[in-house]
Amino acid sequence: MNIVELINKKRTKKILTKDELSFIINGYLNDEIKDYQISALLMAICLNGMTDEEIYDLTNIMLHSGDIIDLSGINKVKVDKHSTGGVGDKTTLIIAPLVASCGVVVPKMSGRSLGHTGGTIDKLESIKGFKTNLSRETFIKQVNDIGVSIISQTGNLVPADKKIYALRDVTGTVESIPLIASSIMSKKLACSADKIVLDVKVGQGALMKNLDDASKLGELMVKIGNNYGVETIAILSNMDQPLGYAIGNGLEVLESIDVLKGNGPSDLVELVIELASHMVSLGKKITFEEAKLEVQTNLNNGLAYQKFEELVNYQHGDINNISISSKVVSIKSNKTGFINKIDALKLGEIVRQLGAGRYHKDDVIDYGVGILLNRKVGDYILDGEELLKVYISNSDIQVQEIFDCFEIIESLDPLKPLIYKVIK
Ligand code: URA
Repeated sequence: MNIVELINKKRTKKILTKDELSFIINGYLNDEIKDYQISALLMAICLNGMTDEEIYDLTNIMLHSGDIIDLSGINKVKVDKHSTGGVGDKTTLIIAPLVASCGVVVPKMSGRSLGHTGGTIDKLESIKGFKTNLSRETFIKQVNDIGVSIISQTGNLVPADKKIYALRDVTGTVESIPLIASSIMSKKLACSADKIVLDVKVGQGALMKNLDDASKLGELMVKIGNNYGVETIAILSNMDQPLGYAIGNGLEVLESIDVLKGNGPSDLVELVIELASHMVSLGKKITFEEAKLEVQTNLNNGLAYQKFEELVNYQHGDINNISISSKVVSIKSNKTGFINKIDALKLGEIVRQLGAGRYHKDDVIDYGVGILLNRKVGDYILDGEELLKVYISNSDIQVQEIFDCFEIIESLDPLKPLIYKVIK
C-alpha cells in the first residue's frame, strides 16, 4: 500500500477499506507515515467526509491502538458520561457523585482543558491535595468502596487519537463529524463502561455550531456505542452562553458545591438533572421519571453533597481549601437593556488568557482566576450595575474585550431551549 495513493483516494471521494485505514493509522503511529501526509488526508476527510462503515472501522482501529482499561474488578453496571466541551461546563463534578449517591457506579476518567474549554481534572486539582493520578488498583478499590472515582486518563489509552488530535488542532481539521465521532468514541470505549451518556454541545461556544450537525454527530456516536453493545444515548444541549455563572477552575468547584447542596443556577441544575437521570435510568434499568425523582431527592436531601465529600476525602483533597484568587475586580455595565447574547467562546478565551487554561501542554494553570457572571441571557441590566466579577492574579483586564462578549439591547430575541433533544 502507498500513502499517497490513499490520500488521492480520499481526495477523489472514494471509500477507504479497513485494511487501508489500519495501514494509515499504524503507519502514522510508528512514524513511517509523516505529519504532512496525515494532515493532507485529514483535510480530505474534512472536505469529503466518510461513510458510516469507514467511521466504524476508524474507531475500531483507534480503540485498539493502545490499552483498553480492564474494569472487570467492578461487579456493577458502570455508567460513563462525556461532554463534547463547553464554557463553564462543570457537570461532571456534580453528576459523578450525584449518580453514585443514587447507587450507580461511576468510574470516571476525565481530561484537562482543551482550547477555550475547561477540563474536569484541572477543576478538581483546584481543591488542595486532590490526587487525580491514581493507580488502576486504587481506582477500582475506590469505585468498589464508595461508588465513584474521577482520575486523569492514564497509561497508553488510544495513542492514535493523542497523536492525530494534536495534529488536527494545528491543521484546521478539528471540525469534522467523522473525526470527532471516532476520536470521542474510541476513548470512551477504551474506558470500558457498560453505558454511556453523551452531552453534545450545540451553539456558538461549542464545536458543533448548529442543530443539524450536532444531531448528525450525536446519532453517529450513539450508533458506534450501540454497535459495541454499549448502550449509548446523546443529549443535545445549548452552548450559546456559558453554563451557570462561574468560569474558571476554583470558581466552578464552588458553583458545583452550590448545586450539590440543592442550590445553584437554574440552567446548570436543569442540565445536571437531565444527564444524571439518564445515567441512573440506564444504570438501574428504571424509567427516566423514576430516575429523575431519585436524582432530585438526592440533590435536596444532602446525599449528593455527602458523596462529593467522600470522593474528595478519598482522593486526599481538602474541601475547605479551594483556590480562589483574592484579587477581584467588579466590571459594571456601560449600557442599560436586556442581555441578548453572551459570547461563550470569547469569554472562555479571556478566562484562558487570565491563566485558567493552557496554550502549551506544559503551561502551569492558575486555579484561582476566572469570571463570575452577575447576569445571563434574558436578564435586564442598568448602566452602572455589576455585569460580572473578574478574579485575577497578575494579568491585566481588557475591559473592552469583556464588553465585546455581551450584546445588550432593548428587546430580546426569543430564548433558545437549554436541552434540544435526546437521541437513543
Ligand atoms: N473532543 C475529542 O475528544 N475529540 C474531538 O475530536 C473533539 C472533541
